Amino acid sequence: MVHVAAEREVTELQRKYLAAVSSELHAVIPHELDGPYPLLRYHLGWEEANGAVREDGGGKALRPVLCLTAAEVAGGDWHQALAAAASLELIHNFSLVHDDIQDGDVERRHRSTVWSLWGIPKAMTAGNAMRVVADRTIAMLSNANLPDACVVDASLVLTERYLEMIEGQYQDISFENADGVTPEQYLEMVGRKTGALIDASMYLGALIATQDTAQAEAFGWSGRRLGLAFQIRDDILGIWGDPAETGKAIGADIRRRKKSLPVVYLLQKAKGSDKKWLHGLYDADYEMSDADVNRVLEIMELVGAKQYCQQMAEDQSRQADAATEELPLTPAARDTLRALGEYFVTREK
Ligand code: IPE
Ligand code: IPE
Ligand code: MG
Ligand code: MG
Repeated sequence: MVHVAAEREVTELQRKYLAAVSSELHAVIPHELDGPYPLLRYHLGWEEANGAVREDGGGKALRPVLCLTAAEVAGGDWHQALAAAASLELIHNFSLVHDDIQDGDVERRHRSTVWSLWGIPKAMTAGNAMRVVADRTIAMLSNANLPDACVVDASLVLTERYLEMIEGQYQDISFENADGVTPEQYLEMVGRKTGALIDASMYLGALIATQDTAQAEAFGWSGRRLGLAFQIRDDILGIWGDPAETGKAIGADIRRRKKSLPVVYLLQKAKGSDKKWLHGLYDADYEMSDADVNRVLEIMELVGAKQYCQQMAEDQSRQADAATEELPLTPAARDTLRALGEYFVTREK
């Protein structure tokens, strides 16, 4: 499934940009041994839970990669966008620290989640601290030799988008106990939960490069489609992914009754006794057994839930690509963006 050339291109982009992003992040996260900061450094993969330094091990840092790629393909100097790239990564990580509490997940990136080690109250505080460090980091764009109006717009758009992300997260949680969630409602929720920050990543990169809000908006629109594609693929991996690759426990989304796209589709498409059984299962709140999870998987197979979701992800990625036709990009720049879109819908981790 994995698209080798696209994955190679993304690895190249990570190699090109991430050392600088990492330096920026190390400069903005306090080194203090007390307070919430050790939890931030643990979550970012820099330290063990006992404070011992560890070799890397954070996430894929795709939002910084998208931001800096957008800056470069739009004709700018990507170094000017580093504060934005670092801020995006911190906002993303703030959302994950809280998301693991909300989803009750004990494993992320092959490690124990912050709340499972330090408890929920401290994990909430660590997430909040991460968010505020992100706010402080975007303000550092004012040192990047950019017009004031650009710095203000960048900061405002980032705030608006991450508020949308929080709204999407609220909808996602509300859907756990909602009946009859449609694919349209799912897409609306995910456009916010995941699309908004990926939109912001591309918007900010392009804005910093061009200072042209119309162009930045076109990049952002494409980013939002990429975000939808990314989350649908995430939903697929949450059910059919290999935990050795994803670093997340298998079946957790099903047990939690998350209305991920495969489940939304399943509840719409199942027929007869399967339908009755599924609706009973999703209306109840008892803990699902392994047999329940297996039966859910069997009915998903029957209705072709995985294929449906993969097609939806690819459709969003195609829309993201089509949107870049409007932009004044070199063929090489379009190829780079296309590779990112292909990676988003074929990734295994
Ligand atoms: C996970 O995002 C959460 C979603 C929005 C699907 P990533 O897969 O980008 O997380 P990391 O940072 O690489 O672990
Ligand atoms: C991650 O969402 C949180 C946000 C995007 C705000 P999910 O709950 O779908 O992602 P994973 O699978 O835990 O990474
Ligand atoms: Mg989650
Ligand atoms: Mg979640």
